[in-house]
Amino acid sequence: MCGIVAYIGQREAYPIILKGLKRLEYRGYDSAGVALLNGSLRVYKKKGKVAALEESLVGKAVHAHAGIGHTRWATHGEPSDRNAHPHLSASGKLAMIHNGIIENYAQLKSDLQKKGYEFKSDTDTEVLLNFIEDIHINNGGNLEEAIRIALRRVVGAYVIVVLDQDHPDTLIAARKGSPLVIGVGKDEHFLASDASPIIEYTKEVVYVNDYELAILKPDELVLKNLGNDKLTPFIQKLDLELAAIEKGGYDSFMLKEIFEQPHTIYDCLRGRLDATAGTITMSGVQSCMQYLKEANRILIIACGTSWHAGLVAEYIIEELCRIPVEVEYASEFRYRNPIINKGDIIIAVSQSGETADTLVAIEKAKEQGAIIFGILNVVGSSIARASHAGAYTHAGPEIGVASTKAFTAQLVVLTMVALKLSNERGTIDQKRYLHLLNELQQIPDKVATVLQQNEHISALAEKYKDARDFLYLGRGYNFPIALEGALKLKEISYIHAEGYPAAEMKHGPIALVDEKLPVVFVATRDSYHEKIVSNIQEIKARKGKVVAVISEGDDVIEGMADDVIKVPEADEIVAPLLSVIPLQLLSYHIGMAKDLDVDKPRNLAKSVTVE
Ligand code: AGP
Ligand code: GLU
Repeated sequence: MCGIVAYIGQREAYPIILKGLKRLEYRGYDSAGVALLNGSLRVYKKKGKVAALEESLVGKAVHAHAGIGHTRWATHGEPSDRNAHPHLSASGKLAMIHNGIIENYAQLKSDLQKKGYEFKSDTDTEVLLNFIEDIHINNGGNLEEAIRIALRRVVGAYVIVVLDQDHPDTLIAARKGSPLVIGVGKDEHFLASDASPIIEYTKEVVYVNDYELAILKPDELVLKNLGNDKLTPFIQKLDLELAAIEKGGYDSFMLKEIFEQPHTIYDCLRGRLDATAGTITMSGVQSCMQYLKEANRILIIACGTSWHAGLVAEYIIEELCRIPVEVEYASEFRYRNPIINKGDIIIAVSQSGETADTLVAIEKAKEQGAIIFGILNVVGSSIARASHAGAYTHAGPEIGVASTKAFTAQLVVLTMVALKLSNERGTIDQKRYLHLLNELQQIPDKVATVLQQNEHISALAEKYKDARDFLYLGRGYNFPIALEGALKLKEISYIHAEGYPAAEMKHGPIALVDEKLPVVFVATRDSYHEKIVSNIQEIKARKGKVVAVISEGDDVIEGMADDVIKVPEADEIVAPLLSVIPLQLLSYHIGMAKDLDVDKPRNLAKSVTVE
């Protein structure tokens, strides 16, 4: 969910908004636009960079003292000029920008279409705007009241800013689940997703809370709740520097994104998982359910961290759906002469949706009759467009080169797909199905609990940062997490690390073990627990240093290991969502302890769009 900037006051709005959107570019986006109000509403918007928008406005009428601007991270409707924000209402009198996801937009759209509304875009945002206008027209009250009524009936996350052609001296904004900051100036007010577009004009800010509405005039700030009660704005003095603001107060995007995971996992589940009703709603899965139900084989194709997500999914899908699964490195698959049977399902997993190896691999499979299901974080990306169906991970832009929040979001989507498919195929009993839905629903809170270990993990990083090599060991669902933990350490700290199935040690790698070698065990309580206890004993017997990620209350391993990191108990199928978090933090803190650039590690690109 990307960025918003708005201004109302004595100055020219456009330059402030444009510069503010540039300040928000670090958040990643696919489109940009502005609406300016000077007598009439003028909307300029396009797919692509803010600079392209700026260039397109040279010579255009941009004089105005009120305006709204937006950088879009598409969730509903692919990146395009018509899907870019701001959107105009049917009457053309309201312009709105929105960050977030309106979950019940389909129902709202259907109701509005029955009333004769037509839509110029595919976005959920335009639906919300016309829903507001419809209420405004039919209730006859003021726009502010219409917005309050509409937002009480909306399900989802939003920050919106609305410009009304008939009230050029007013901006109305509201938020739930997406960030909004008001800048308080002298006879002027600013709005933005964070303080970075505001800080050069004023250091006096008001952080808007969920379910609050702000009505801004140049010389007046009114804050209300959705019940129309007036609230006292709490004006704070900004003490953050620009760089710190962009990272949400964290010292790196990587740490910010690690800590975003309770929120991003919740966003990934939002509107899809309903553990109470026992349902998983995923239109992309439903659209190819027949193929999935009849599939004799599922191939998962990906690279790097996304490949690790695929490996976890192999264990889950085979366990729950009883369909054979093969996980392929895209870079290998594309060059060998693979056997593709018609009706094979290919799941392509990719954060960027632009990884060249993955894109070419699925194009090749498609030519041979495979059905492509994409699990992606970027709406409208190349792999999304090459897929027959898919599901987005809704993790928001991932800026850090090391994939963290996108990885856990991939795991959540893959787990939901496996659960939905197993329920459709009847290969899981209802009790276990409902149990796993409930387990998945608890993950955001449990991840938040794991993150409380941050200081402890930082201390472990200090203790082990000078090791020359690391081993990461796990079994079953945690084996791919051992691989992921090793990759994280390699790419962030440049220390050599290998992931192995814990039982594989005796076939050679155990020769590496001595008192200088830290061995990280991913050993949350599961059906392999007794076995991994033996593996830990094997390492201890050879003087290896054991750092174990364990379930709370596991006194057995705690009594054996040199250091432990505890995570809440969880079913082994969803445990990887918890056991990976300490490994992300360990790699981060070792990288920081070695004074390395954890956001942009050497030799790496965020998206490998070349062979
Ligand atoms: C993960 O931390 C790495 N940055 C890298 O392995 C990445 O997962 C891989 O390049 C695949 O990228 P994708 O998910 O965008 O396809
Ligand atoms: N859901 C809206 C859209 O897809 C807003 C996306 C955003 O937060 O930028 O246009």
